[in-house]
Amino acid sequence: MYATETLEEKRLCNIGSYEERLRGFDWAIAEKEMGWGRGDPLNIGWNLTDRICRLGLAKKPALLWEGSDGRERTYTFGDLRLLSNAVAAVLSRLGLEPSERVCLFLDRVPELYIAFIGILKMGAIVQPLFSAFGEESLSTRLLDAGTAAVVTQKKHLPKVRRIRAQLPALRTVVVVDAEGLALKDGEVALDLDSEPRLERFPIFPATAETPSVLHYTSGTTGQPKGAQHVHGSLVSQYLTARWVLDLKSDDVYWCNADPGWVTGTSYGIIGPWSNGITQAVLDSGFGADRWYGFIERRGISVWYSAPTAIRLLMRDGPQAAKRHDLSSLRHLASVGEPLNPEAVHWSREAFGLPFHDTYWQTETGCIVISNYPGMPVKPGSMGKPFPGIAAAVLDPATFEPHREPGRVGVIGLRPGWPSMLRGYWNNPDGYAKKFTNGWYLTGDRATVDADGYFWFVGRDDDVINTGGHLVGPFEVESALLEHPAVAESAAVAKPDPVNMEVVKAFVALKPGFTPGPDLELEIMNFVRKRLSPIAMPQEIAFVASLPRNRSGKILRRVLRAPEWGEPIGDISTLMED
Ligand code: PRX
Repeated sequence: MYATETLEEKRLCNIGSYEERLRGFDWAIAEKEMGWGRGDPLNIGWNLTDRICRLGLAKKPALLWEGSDGRERTYTFGDLRLLSNAVAAVLSRLGLEPSERVCLFLDRVPELYIAFIGILKMGAIVQPLFSAFGEESLSTRLLDAGTAAVVTQKKHLPKVRRIRAQLPALRTVVVVDAEGLALKDGEVALDLDSEPRLERFPIFPATAETPSVLHYTSGTTGQPKGAQHVHGSLVSQYLTARWVLDLKSDDVYWCNADPGWVTGTSYGIIGPWSNGITQAVLDSGFGADRWYGFIERRGISVWYSAPTAIRLLMRDGPQAAKRHDLSSLRHLASVGEPLNPEAVHWSREAFGLPFHDTYWQTETGCIVISNYPGMPVKPGSMGKPFPGIAAAVLDPATFEPHREPGRVGVIGLRPGWPSMLRGYWNNPDGYAKKFTNGWYLTGDRATVDADGYFWFVGRDDDVINTGGHLVGPFEVESALLEHPAVAESAAVAKPDPVNMEVVKAFVALKPGFTPGPDLELEIMNFVRKRLSPIAMPQEIAFVASLPRNRSGKILRRVLRAPEWGEPIGDISTLMED
């Protein structure tokens, strides 16, 4: 039996009737609401701040920020406008040019959000990277993008300094909390508390096709790929935030995601602020009591979270939620991994509201399949395509949509929605491979039922999804091979009750090294420091050698299957791979 929302909720939600929205849908609905005409300049930075201020919302709080040490700051839309102008002016003065890449390597401090807007205002491309990345993860992505500037903070500066010599394109490092620090050549301080606020800045006249954000994402082969987005992505991000997350003018919205990942930019910056919505940011890690306390204190009404976070909350039971007044919550949504039905049932018990699953990717830039407010939730299903998105489950042999419901295939999307990536940086072949028979191939497998609901089955590749974050096996294997004891390595997904998947590594040692717990720990830490805590293998199996096919390619499938209790299959044919 599927629980439905009350009729009243149905009437009041922004999307109204999903079926009605499907009929005659046009992205121009969003363009009209934002007052943008095709062919006019379109700059996301201006739209998130100047446009909102022109609507008379300059004094409305835009960012309610709390740090891990309990510090609090509030910024209005007017503050964001003036401070992002200031950042744009400083970057221009430093000689940065439109279309150059400027990396944000920051915790979730206010400067991250303000600089994101400032970079877009002066026409450069924002490259947000997760601040827990180690030197190797960082240098790979900066080198690939030819990044000209990095904006960072004191605590992360040593990492940037250590790799700087390998990055010929990197001219400037901007430090947002440089007080008391001896800066080196090419490093400059930018203190937003003392930097004069700037009333006017000549906004870069971007068009819908001008590059905006470059997000790196992992694939099976090779190093991570930079998904190139454009300013026109705003059209999709604005409307999906309104219709899927149901954001309304008096909401206080919380998105858990770090802007190092696409959720944290599309729906942690662009979606809410283009709608003039107040959002709260908590710059600290997970803690059930801390999170519930934050929701209570800030009066969060719409919450966009992730299955791993929900599973962590579930461990503390619904009683932990009941100890707080969470009555401000109105709408809950989730992204990043399959949302198990238990999590939906549990959230009804704990919060009196279901989590609504949403599905999308770095490449899609916006939510493409989801459960809409007011639409009956089928727990375990990702829901239905957003109006304006043509999605189908394709027969993997013909790449034609399956005719009957319930058959497993690859999720394909018809190209052309505004926030679709426009390419992979430096990698036209990788981009071309994403399209077949007129479809953009997501690389995810699913079924669709007779009611048109999509059900996630699994990924079509070896990428590991740990806690909603994609880890490329190649990146882990490359890092493992740099350890002096490692001769061969393979990284695969292993099931995990909280993170859904974690990284497990298979390692063959060089002669003279003995397997054991000490070496296992040493290798794990080695990867953690080079890549990130997320990419660190949670287990290492020492093996004599790794299974390979005739051309020498490691057969990860043979290693992965037993972890999931799946049959390995016919090894003789696998060897022919
Ligand atoms: O495999 C799918 C999984 O996460 C992948 C996209 O990851 P990323 O590009 O990092 O973007 C994450 C946030 C948008 C997808 O290809 N995924 C995402 N959402 C879901 C999901 N798997 C199952 N259910 C979802 N709702």
